[in-house]
Amino acid sequence: MENFIEQIDKRRTFAIISHPDAGKTTLTEKLLLYGGAIQQAGIVKGKKGARAAVSDWMEIEKQRGISVTSSVLQFRYNGYCVNILDTPGHQDFSEDTYRTLMAADSAVMVIDAAKGVENQTKKLFKVCTMRGIPIFTFINKMDRDAQNPFDLLEEIEQVLGIETYPMNWPIGSGKEFKGVYDRNKKEILAFQHSGKVGQQQAEKIEAQLGDPGLDELLTKSLHDTLSEDIELLDGAAYEFNLDKVRHGMLTPVFFGSALTNFGVEPFLADFLRLSPPPLPRDSSAGPIDPRREDFSAFVFKIQANMNKAHRDRIAFIRICSGKFERGMDVFHVQGGKKVKLAQGTQLMASEREIVEEAYAGDIIGVFDPGIFSIGDTLTTAKTPFAFAGIPTFAPEHFSRVSQVDTMKRKQFVKGMEQIAQEGAIQIFKELGGGMEEVIVGVVGVLQFEVLEYRLKNEYNVDIRMQNLPYSFIRWIENEDCDPKALNLTSDTRRVEDFKGRKLLLFTNAWSITWAEEHNKELRLSEVGR
Ligand code: G4P
Repeated sequence: MENFIEQIDKRRTFAIISHPDAGKTTLTEKLLLYGGAIQQAGIVKGKKGARAAVSDWMEIEKQRGISVTSSVLQFRYNGYCVNILDTPGHQDFSEDTYRTLMAADSAVMVIDAAKGVENQTKKLFKVCTMRGIPIFTFINKMDRDAQNPFDLLEEIEQVLGIETYPMNWPIGSGKEFKGVYDRNKKEILAFQHSGKVGQQQAEKIEAQLGDPGLDELLTKSLHDTLSEDIELLDGAAYEFNLDKVRHGMLTPVFFGSALTNFGVEPFLADFLRLSPPPLPRDSSAGPIDPRREDFSAFVFKIQANMNKAHRDRIAFIRICSGKFERGMDVFHVQGGKKVKLAQGTQLMASEREIVEEAYAGDIIGVFDPGIFSIGDTLTTAKTPFAFAGIPTFAPEHFSRVSQVDTMKRKQFVKGMEQIAQEGAIQIFKELGGGMEEVIVGVVGVLQFEVLEYRLKNEYNVDIRMQNLPYSFIRWIENEDCDPKALNLTSDTRRVEDFKGRKLLLFTNAWSITWAEEHNKELRLSEVGR
């Protein structure tokens, strides 16, 4: 039996980010294949099309627990216990990505070798850097025509502003893609197809650069190019620095092809070697060491109605210290109450499993009787503390939402409140007003569609939505401020959120400046605290 500390140290928890279609789903699947969590590729289904983000929701209705979009997958590899967190690819859900990254200790960025750094890669990368976590790069689809690898590295450095260090180097590309050169081991891994491409693990041949036998295997010209490239690389400015990796200032880069499995296993092995074990988390009592015995965790995601028959809610928690045991009593800090964590579930490839025990670094789903909110802390510590909150993104799109059938008021209120608790939307109302009419703010407009879809399907409520012209939101920080007494432009709206905090909605940046200039005492904030 491994001891408690060993259990924690062998955990690796990371998120995969990519522009849609770069190969995130395929890579995830291949990692599971190498981890032995699945025997044959093709089980984890990818979602296609521009409207994938919305259809993911709809699909989830049918197949929750099967799709990788369902939050987290765990597998074991080489003595490590690996937790992969999935992130939505669509930009409208970047807030969800941010929350997911809060639960990760590192990130893997998948880039399409032909397309290089794409729009969504940039946005998601920015979200990663806000967390300062290590970022590993997998340049995928080398089995297709690809950009020159030196150009790809330069693009990552220039566009994303992070130093790169190629861990391996591709040998050819497209039909000529023969394998990779491992710079650390100074070995060539030439791959050979066997059986159906990509379904089983790739075979590898290990050989030294300059070995005459390689001319036959790679062709002389590929062998020559590789020798020149490696000479160039070794003489170039790229230098490996683990400290920089750990601080998200340098990204180790791997080339490969998830579809054909080329380069996936060396990537996994190096990634596990270089990525950090569970890291301490900031809290009101200072950083919490993952190896301390008290159990502690925070909620980073809530998913309602995973099982329609039971109308249940699952709160996904990241364990930050200690050990989880099924049925344990913990203190819910924000609720000020003890709760029993009766059921822990975890996703193992295609199945949902009951978890008996879990350790710091793990992500589990616990049954939520409707009491948890994003960012809440659970702990068994004698002196309870709260983990640093997860800031909410300032919404940029607003709509007035009301129910079509006024008889359905109760369902409407419940649905709106529950969906808001999950963090996908933020809801506001007139100062001192009720729920007859609600102003909904979202970071991406697709979230309006998801809201409409979910209210109809999960709560049986039809809604009317009317776009509002606001683009900026500011919370009023002065506690004694009466918003009605403020001197504001006529297009500025005074509202409050459901915690009773007062805020202002602006149509343009100029009106914000106007408000600040004409109300000298006023302190405005972009985040609701
Ligand atoms: P995503 O999750 O990032 O959106 O991407 P996903 O893995 O779904 O991959 C998008 C498409 O790219 C898929 O093809 C997939 O098979 C293909 N792909 C992924 N990795 C590689 C690779 O290394 N090489 C090549 N050549 N293709 C790759 P599709 O035709 O859109 O879907 P499907 O019919 O194969 O499911």
